[in-house]
Amino acid sequence: MNVHTPALGNSDPFDEATSIFADDVIGALAQHPKRLSPKYFYDAAGSELFEQITVLPEYYPTRTELGILRNRGAEIAAIIPKGAALVEFGAGATTKVRLLLQHCEFAAYVPVDISGDFLTQQAAGLRKDFPRLAVHPVTADFTAPFALPEEIRDLPKVGFFPGSTLGNFEPQEAAAFLRTAREILGRGAQMIIGVDLEKDERVLYDAYNDAAGVTARFNLNVLVRINRELGGNFDISAFNHRSIYNRDRHRIEMHLISRKAQTVRILGKSFSFRPGESIHTENSYKYSLDRFTALARETGWTVRNSWTDNAKMFSVHALTASD
Ligand code: AVJ
Repeated sequence: MNVHTPALGNSDPFDEATSIFADDVIGALAQHPKRLSPKYFYDAAGSELFEQITVLPEYYPTRTELGILRNRGAEIAAIIPKGAALVEFGAGATTKVRLLLQHCEFAAYVPVDISGDFLTQQAAGLRKDFPRLAVHPVTADFTAPFALPEEIRDLPKVGFFPGSTLGNFEPQEAAAFLRTAREILGRGAQMIIGVDLEKDERVLYDAYNDAAGVTARFNLNVLVRINRELGGNFDISAFNHRSIYNRDRHRIEMHLISRKAQTVRILGKSFSFRPGESIHTENSYKYSLDRFTALARETGWTVRNSWTDNAKMFSVHALTASD
């Protein structure tokens, strides 16, 4: 049974996505330590805040990856067969995929994302700018197996997973994702993947604790979203944003820290906080080139080529499916 039913009754049922969100939030906040999934950051306001993060002076990943894709576009294109289908796992801003589409002669583009509305908009813009490209959006959760469109069945497949989104996955989830991607794309497939690298801790710390406070607003926005969509009563000003680097686990952790003892109500349930108690909202794993190469090898891929910027802040890899 869904937890929201007693609170709202049947006259105003949540849609399916909100109902999953409700069950997930209530389950995650009942855990010790309390958690929330980073996938809930991206409502309209959160997506806009993330776009602001990508241009912050401290947030190096986006501009560094774009630089690699721009500078190495010709080398990447050289190893991609003409007339292939490009399958993007998750679909954000189209800036990165446009760089690949400009350099390589793809016959088809398949953006896969859970948000159908966003996909429709994105597909329209690309069809206009690349009139010879067949665009076949797929609305699906890309972390689970899904079917590719029939239209690209006979084309060579190239996966695209930029932005170090892989970093949001726990190590075993990252392995499962790469194995699933290998299965979906099939024999002979390739994959272009962007992976953030371990580096000076100060640089990492600053990237997730920017001076302008945009990352703080991005983190706190998940509480705003719970208040709006689930009728929660979080006092946003009673929580602080905190990001720390966990060296042993090679990850940035984002937390929301309760500034005082308080109780929050969501859908008829109460959640009590001690002063200083955390809600762990995100992990962003950082890889070494060796650890990523080993992960690829264990999950059915061979690293064919790796590119980094001069300062070795970020990496882009071309993988080939192992036989
Ligand atoms: C979208 C998961 C790659 O981990 O850097 C940015 C999200 N969180 N600032 C990242 C994020 C805080 C971002 N990823």
